[in-house]
Amino acid sequence: MKLWIPGPTQVRPEVLAELARPAIGHRSAAMVEVTERLDPHLRLAFGLGEGSTSHVAVHSTSASGMMEAALVGAGPRILSLVNGAFSKRFADIAEVLGKEVVRLEVPMGQRVAPETVAAALAEQGPFDAVTVVSSETSTGTATPFGPMAEVLAPYPDTMLLTDVVSWVAAAPIDFDANRVDFAFAGVQKALALPPGIAVCCVSERYLAQARGRTRRSWYHDPVRIVEGHEARKTPATPAIPHYLALARQLEDITAGVTLAPDMGPAEGAAAWQKRFDEHGRMQCRTIAWAESHGLGLLPEPRFGSPGVGCIRAEGLDVAALVDGLKARGFQISNGYGDLKGKTFRIGHMGDHTLSGLDELLAAADELLPARVG
Ligand SMILES: Cc1ncc(COP(=O)(O)O)c(C=O)c1O
Repeated sequence: MKLWIPGPTQVRPEVLAELARPAIGHRSAAMVEVTERLDPHLRLAFGLGEGSTSHVAVHSTSASGMMEAALVGAGPRILSLVNGAFSKRFADIAEVLGKEVVRLEVPMGQRVAPETVAAALAEQGPFDAVTVVSSETSTGTATPFGPMAEVLAPYPDTMLLTDVVSWVAAAPIDFDANRVDFAFAGVQKALALPPGIAVCCVSERYLAQARGRTRRSWYHDPVRIVEGHEARKTPATPAIPHYLALARQLEDITAGVTLAPDMGPAEGAAAWQKRFDEHGRMQCRTIAWAESHGLGLLPEPRFGSPGVGCIRAEGLDVAALVDGLKARGFQISNGYGDLKGKTFRIGHMGDHTLSGLDELLAAADELLPARVG
């Protein structure tokens, strides 16, 4: 079965094989070596330049755990942009942590406009942090980085906490240029690993202010996570096999090994750019295919996610499409929550390529003409 759901996504056999290596101790020299292999590639994934003072780290938790960590180090007043299930979770976690949360909520499939954020910052601020999900996997909706950076420019003490779960390794982040303070992701989306660990990038500004706060968590303390990673001494026993798999995957991405043959060879930042381009090609192909069947993306196409195509069903029997594709060896997803039956989602991310997507869409073509007028 080929996984085209919005995560977890397909994992290459070479990466799976890393999970089956003999055990090593987490305080061993071998573990230090594995951890050292990660950072240069993570810095490329988050788009950090040579002189950047921002930090990358890995933690054995899921993306929801990282939402918690990002918030644990932030102050008490939070502005949450809510446009789907995961951005709502981010706001909910802030409330569970006892923060005062102001929600800017829009219907699923829309993004919160920068002007709305600017008005809230000016009229209801000051805020200690803003939470945003750059790619709402539940609706396939992107909230681009640039405009958020612009509206936050006058507020240097307001931290920008960004979920890049279905964005990282699918599109550029340019963490410093986009003024992000804390970006995190689980690895089971465009990084194409099995779920189990999470990666993050943290600004020096965020760390400095977090160090000065009472942080009411031990396991999800962002300072402990970053300092433990950099000292090569994780606070607790990490998911060691996942570190091995991540090292292999990141090295392969940087070496251009995961690129489709028609993308040509590339290494380093150029290989990452080509990976982003491949995701762009898959996004465009998905939109064009949907339109050829009289369907359209749930969000405006310019706010389509680089990793998840969420397509309006327009009366199509989504369950039949999902089942029909399953019988042909492809798994896609029904809509999320209230969008079930009204949308379906194709996770075109990870190590998937345009030619693989064409196979999936050809199989969907066999099922669709009879159903769409
Ligand atoms: C955008 C986004 N954020 C957060 C999560 C939560 O991730 P996890 O289930 O790994 O905690 C997901 C999961 O799909 C997601 O897509």
